[in-house]
Amino acid sequence: MSYNIAIDGPAGAGKSTIAKLAAGKLNFLYVDTGAMYRAMAYYFMTHQIAPEQEELITACCDQIQIQLKYENGSQQIYLNGQNVSSEIRKEEVGKMASVTSAYPAVRRKLTSLQQEIAAAEDIIMDGRDIGTCVLPNAQLKIYLTASVHTRAVRRYQELIEKGIDCELSEIEKDIEDRDYRDMHREISPLKAADDAVVLDSSDLTIEQVTEKIIKLAGAAK
Ligand code: C5P
Repeated sequence: MSYNIAIDGPAGAGKSTIAKLAAGKLNFLYVDTGAMYRAMAYYFMTHQIAPEQEELITACCDQIQIQLKYENGSQQIYLNGQNVSSEIRKEEVGKMASVTSAYPAVRRKLTSLQQEIAAAEDIIMDGRDIGTCVLPNAQLKIYLTASVHTRAVRRYQELIEKGIDCELSEIEKDIEDRDYRDMHREISPLKAADDAVVLDSSDLTIEQVTEKIIKLAGAAK
């Protein structure tokens, strides 16, 4: 049986960085489910579909094929055969994904893809509903969080380092809005599973959180 670790939490808590590091140390596959929701959102955007067009989005889901491939040790995401790994990182794609991920057809499609991957391999999967819905039987569940301010400052620094002009207060507002949408949607809202270990990364380094997860994974085996 494959060993599954679920890491859930709000945007900017450090899930993907930490999940990638822990996966490397444990020799597990890292699966970024946010990238899958972003790839679907990118499809809708490039087909001139507005976020509120739920019927059209539902009808389109069958025409979308999402694949994860591992190239030179990093996860690449393919949308209908095209590598969209860099395009999906744009702010507007993240915003679109946070709206379109609330639609049942989008979630159904990606949940079954995620379950197939997890059944076949030892994985660390990060997202919003992994411990609660996608992998309710995961051997280890982590809920990784951090204060809105901490997450906004991290994001602000990332953007400034990339030479992108931005306002901290706007980033804070954006994070609050995204948290609200993720936590209050009808299906699979973001919340800690009852059996998740809750870690707050506000005052911990990436290495400290990663170490904690490695230890917990050892204990859960
Ligand atoms: O984690 P990331 O910011 O890449 O995710 C983009 C959006 O996809 C999130 O804001 C969230 O709305 C959605 N998502 C989700 N369920 C997941 C992963 C991501 O609803 N398992």
